[in-house]
Amino acid sequence: MSARRTTTRRTPATGPRPRRPVRDDARNTAYDVIRAVDERDAYANLLMPRLLRERGLTGRDAALATELAYGTLRGLGTYDAVIEVCTDRAPDPDVRDALRLGTHQLLRMRVPPHAAVGTTVDLVRARIGQGPAKFVNAVLRKIAARTADEWIAVVAQDDPVGRLSVAHSHPRWIVGAFRDALGGDDAETSALLEADNARPLVTLVARPGRSSVGELAESGAAPGRYSPYAAYLPEGDPGQVRAVADYRAAVQDEGSQLVALALARVPLEGPDGRWLDMCAGPGGKAGLLDAIAAYGDPAEGFPGGVHLLAAELQYHRARLVWQTTREAVVVTADSTEPPWRPGVFDRVMLDAPCTGLGALRRRPEARWRRDPASLPELTRLQRRLLAAALDAVRPGGVVAYVTCSPHLAETGLVVDDVLREHADVERLDARAYLPEVADLGDGPDVQLWPHRHGTDAMFLALLRRRR
Ligand SMILES: C[S@@+](CC[C@H](N)C(=O)[O-])C[C@H]1O[C@@H](n2cnc3c(N)ncnc32)[C@H](O)[C@@H]1O
Repeated sequence: MSARRTTTRRTPATGPRPRRPVRDDARNTAYDVIRAVDERDAYANLLMPRLLRERGLTGRDAALATELAYGTLRGLGTYDAVIEVCTDRAPDPDVRDALRLGTHQLLRMRVPPHAAVGTTVDLVRARIGQGPAKFVNAVLRKIAARTADEWIAVVAQDDPVGRLSVAHSHPRWIVGAFRDALGGDDAETSALLEADNARPLVTLVARPGRSSVGELAESGAAPGRYSPYAAYLPEGDPGQVRAVADYRAAVQDEGSQLVALALARVPLEGPDGRWLDMCAGPGGKAGLLDAIAAYGDPAEGFPGGVHLLAAELQYHRARLVWQTTREAVVVTADSTEPPWRPGVFDRVMLDAPCTGLGALRRRPEARWRRDPASLPELTRLQRRLLAAALDAVRPGGVVAYVTCSPHLAETGLVVDDVLREHADVERLDARAYLPEVADLGDGPDVQLWPHRHGTDAMFLALLRRRR
């Protein structure tokens, strides 16, 4: 993984490679995770818990290893820019990863500089060799001479997007997309990027009729800010919460809960017995819609007794939907060539495949893996799926078009384009169905934001087919 492309040259290690790792389990584990992400595209949030378990790291050691690895992976856009001005040659990837780890400790953690440099040099000596250890020592000493803010002033580019990109360690194209979606406001873009660099709260959903926020509170969770089904778990493994293990509750961002809730809240004339989730895997929104549809919720005026059909293209993801829902019928299907008749559903959820730029805070390395080249194909698919959703809904019924991305090309522009071909569709003011949430933008669509709402950056448009 590379925040910028570099040519690499092998630095020969002097002397034999020591085989015994130094006894700094947290730093070694963090380094192993960073290397695995860099070398073989591993997912940090899957690998880290496995290594912690295998190595018996718990408590403060586990927390330190996690902060070292995740913080380094998030920050490497900034760190690479600093390392570049402190080196006269591009380091080998294994050395570069160690430099990133040391730089993170120097610039963003409260590790005393001598410890940040010393532990990194020890690690490099043990894992790579004496020559690279000397090199790392010299580079980290240069980096230690300035604070993070001083370095950012040195390496930041002149234009606003370039400056924000380096200062907040996000790829330039993503900063540009966020800034566009925020109307060109640099201060707000900066706040968003900062929120993206913070670890999100673990949010649970209590599926109505199957669990309750009260039950989750008994496991130490606190009620959510907006969604009546949300609870924040301050610590501990959500998998240990009984309701989560039983699929009566689940881990789910509050933004995902809100968009499902908004769809269920739109008043309908006529029947309201058939709902469709067109892109259901792995089943987060389907799990909540399934419970609302089947069991209802008197507090919200949801009557229950509704049938949900959940469709998903990929079989293994459809199996996850089947596992997490209780009443829904789950099918493996291509929703652009659907096996259902047109005009039969009262409510349709289209949570479209997208770049996922709205959930970058969830995976430390995700921002470096997203590729703007995927956009044209994704936006074509989004248009086809939205057209299919409008075919599937009955006159008077409602479609929720949702993305976990605020990129304008995937949100408002897709809806604008498809509606040009559908004169019989009305775009509702989606904000009206989430009255408990402030700052939802100019409408009619809803855009949630990590820095404003503490949720993922979910987009929602609500579209009603005229009768
Ligand atoms: C953003 S994810 C949906 C997340 C899900 N709604 C949830 O809350 O857990 C998009 C899903 O659409 C599926 N998908 C992509 N193309 C599809 C198609 N043509 N028909 C049905 N599903 C599709 C993907 O496999 C992926 O699981």
